[in-house]
Amino acid sequence: MSIKKIFKEQPEIFEFSKNNLNEANKIINIYPEGKQQSAVMALLYLAQKQNNNWIPLAAMKYIGKMLIMPYIKVYEVATFYTMYNLTPVGKYFFQICTTTPCMIRGAQDLVKACKEKISENENELSKDNACSWVEVECLGACINAPMMQVNDDYYEDLDKEKIEKIINQIEKGETPKPGSYRGRKNSEPENNRKTLLNIKNA
Ligand code: FES
Repeated sequence: MSIKKIFKEQPEIFEFSKNNLNEANKIINIYPEGKQQSAVMALLYLAQKQNNNWIPLAAMKYIGKMLIMPYIKVYEVATFYTMYNLTPVGKYFFQICTTTPCMIRGAQDLVKACKEKISENENELSKDNACSWVEVECLGACINAPMMQVNDDYYEDLDKEKIEKIINQIEKGETPKPGSYRGRKNSEPENNRKTLLNIKNA
C-alpha cells in the first residue's frame, strides 16, 4: 500500500517547471469553461513526477490556487488515491502487483527479489536512495501475470531471475525494455495466435 502519512519535512514552496506549467495549462484547457477543477488529478500526477515521485503539501496548495479550488479539496483527492505518494519514494518506484492472478503466478518471488535487492521492507529507500518498492492491488495486466510497474512502465511475465536482472539494469542507470519478458506481443498467446488469424490486429 502507498503510505498516506504526510512527510514531516516539507518544502516551503513548489512551482511547476516551465515545461510542466505549459503541460498543466494544456490539460486545464481540455475542460469546458467552469470545469477546470476536473484537471486536479492530472496536475497532481504532474507534480508528483516533477518532485521525484512524491507530492508535497506546497504542491497541493499551488494546484489549488491554479484551479481556484480550496486546498482541502486538493488534499482530499491526493490522500484518497493510492497512485499519489505523500512521502518520498525512490526515483525508481517499483510497484509489485500481488492480487490473486499475479499471486498465483509467482508474485511473491518478485517481492522476495525486491526485499533482497532493494530494501528489507516496502516503502523503504534502497541504500543508494534510488529505489523503493511497494505491494499494490491489480494493475490491470493480469493476463501477463506476474507483473510490476516501475514509474510509467509495465514489466510483465516476470519471475525472480527476470526481475533481478531488471533491478540490476536500473541500478546501472540503464532503461530495461518494458512489456512481456516471455517474448509475447502485448497479451497474445505464447507461440503466436491460434485463433482469429484472418483478422488483422485482433
Ligand atoms: S492481478 Fe496483477 S495485474 Fe491484475
